[in-house]
Amino acid sequence: MADIKAEIRGLGKHIPERILTNSDLEKFLDTSDEWITTRTGIKQRRIAEEWEKASDIALPAAEEALSNAGISPKDIDAVIVATSTPDMTFPSTACFLADKLNCSKPMAFDLSAACSGFIYGLSMADAFIKSGQYKNILVVGTEVFSQIIDWNDRSTAVIFGDGAGAVVVSASEGDSDILSSVMKSDGSHWGSLYCPVGEKLRMRGRETFKLAIKSMETASKKALQKAGITLNDIKLVIPHQANIRIINALAERMDLPNEKVYSNIHIYGNTSAASIPIAFYDAWKEGKLDKGDYILLTAFGGGLTWGAIVLKF
Ligand code: UT7
Repeated sequence: MADIKAEIRGLGKHIPERILTNSDLEKFLDTSDEWITTRTGIKQRRIAEEWEKASDIALPAAEEALSNAGISPKDIDAVIVATSTPDMTFPSTACFLADKLNCSKPMAFDLSAACSGFIYGLSMADAFIKSGQYKNILVVGTEVFSQIIDWNDRSTAVIFGDGAGAVVVSASEGDSDILSSVMKSDGSHWGSLYCPVGEKLRMRGRETFKLAIKSMETASKKALQKAGITLNDIKLVIPHQANIRIINALAERMDLPNEKVYSNIHIYGNTSAASIPIAFYDAWKEGKLDKGDYILLTAFGGGLTWGAIVLKF
């Protein structure tokens, strides 16, 4: 029997309607469009309505991923939701989502790895599929960071946004596959970026900035090595959209031309666990990805956590 492969079979995205621009922020914060643009690359972000929870914005993204995959919710064996802004402490956002989708009692759980959550989730889906345990897994990154932002803190309020991205990963005997993954953490740096239960997010930006570049570079190189390919083989690098300066610095350190590194941070800001699946979706919709392309995903976030995945689309 041929080896089981884990194929990304469908992608979906959903972003809330409300747009918050830098000039909107200027009205209630001591900040400027110029500062935000030059320091972060962000021009606007999406903000969920107060009643909109992580599972609400995940639902259309998941439905689209399922429809693009041509898979019925009934055939989903597991739902993995990466989020730091769950609907409730429990039940998991994944349970709410699976119910809203009308799935047939899949394994469902939330994964807490901050901005690296989607990488962790995709890697887990790969392992479940390759073990033969499951055939179709929905992996979602969904965040409503606007609900844990301290809107008086200009150093974080200008950065984050809301959104959701989803993929269906399926067992396949074709060519597409998740080739390697690297997942790391270091809890000793927890104070760089954290959110106590029931409180607001706190970040030591400059410290996080430096660690982000180094960790994503190391994880990316390791993932490439494990996959047995080089950066030259990669069609597109899709990094976590934390800050355009982080993305540019990563590209420079890895000697990557800018056109090989995808970014949409200017329109969505940092959507934490949702940023990679949203960027993946946009890159695909913009025609930047074809079936069979090698793609490198890399992320970094609170925990600290970081990681990278190399896949054949
Ligand atoms: O997604 C998870 C991982 N998160 C990240 O990777 C975020 C990483 N960090 C960053 O993206 C950047 O560190 C920030 C964008 C958060 C900050 O940029 P920075 O260039 O590191 O600025 P800074 O924190 O060193 O602050 C520089 C100055 C300070 O003023 P003084 O002390 O020099 O007078 C800040 O008070 O900029 C000030 N500042 C602002 N000014 C206008 C901070 N936020 C703002 C603001 N508008 N929104």
